[in-house]
Amino acid sequence: MIEIRRHNAGFCHQCFVKHCRDQVARTVESNSMLTSQDRVLVAVSGGKDSLALWDILLSLGYRADGLYIGLGIGDYSSESAAYARRFAASRSARLVEVDLPGDFGFDIPTGSRAAKRAPCSACGLSKRHLFNSEALKGGYQVIATGHNLDDEAAVLFGNVLRWDLAYLGRQQPVLAEGAGFVKKVKPLVRLAERETAAYCVLEGIDYIVEECPMSAGNRHLGYKELLNRVEETSPGTKSAFLFGFFDKVAPLVGQVAAEERESLHACPSCANPTVSGICAFCKLVERASSNT
Ligand code: AMP
Ligand code: FES
Ligand code: ZN
Repeated sequence: MIEIRRHNAGFCHQCFVKHCRDQVARTVESNSMLTSQDRVLVAVSGGKDSLALWDILLSLGYRADGLYIGLGIGDYSSESAAYARRFAASRSARLVEVDLPGDFGFDIPTGSRAAKRAPCSACGLSKRHLFNSEALKGGYQVIATGHNLDDEAAVLFGNVLRWDLAYLGRQQPVLAEGAGFVKKVKPLVRLAERETAAYCVLEGIDYIVEECPMSAGNRHLGYKELLNRVEETSPGTKSAFLFGFFDKVAPLVGQVAAEERESLHACPSCANPTVSGICAFCKLVERASSNT
């Protein structure tokens, strides 16, 4: 029996798997994330969330391929790649692979040192850039990531603590396509971390359990722990916080992000959209390669 306290419900194996798929189907349909014609590229890290997402989208009949980005973070990267490849092979699904060291000449530890950025910041900007450019290159209409309820609530908490309106404006389950941008969707926002882990165990999906070694001390991990403590005493708080924001506040702050998007132009080096001059990813590649 799998209990979900915020729904005040308990599920057997089959009903739990159905519950997860129904939650994703409902999120996809109510937010117009995907059509049955769309080709969607699922960003997979080898972890529970993104592999569960890929599995669920395939089970719902969507045309979903995977994208794995090798970040060059030692054993963690080689092991996570192996999980992504094994899953793809087990479902006879297509996995697109990009390797930062092999294709761009740097890894996250060296690149972040060279650019004097925190590893998670260099990593995040590289992933966002490559999600978009690989989707454009492959002719995909949509990019899907495995951000779950806990991830999004923690990011929202951080953005609210700083009242960062530009980030808040962009924190939506769907970001529409635009000039140079492929549509981005987060179909797992209704599922908690515990649920995606249980889904993988029940469906026999092997995933990398270790967290990225560079994420120790990451602010979001602290926010997650904090929110978990609140959830423990008041089940449902996390989802009320996130969905209250989506329903009541996101429409108000969305304008800030829309205006920001209008001021973007194509990077002179890679043609991806950027605020000014050469984009942050091309600068990172340049700094990393001049230091290696
Ligand atoms: P994170 O930024 O590590 O919290 O991951 C958020 C989401 O980004 C995951 O659920 C995946 O969809 C995607 N992602 C993370 N790491 C990778 C990777 N190495 N390759 C492709 N997608 C990734
Ligand atoms: Fe990006 Fe760890 S996965 S720094
Ligand atoms: Zn660029």
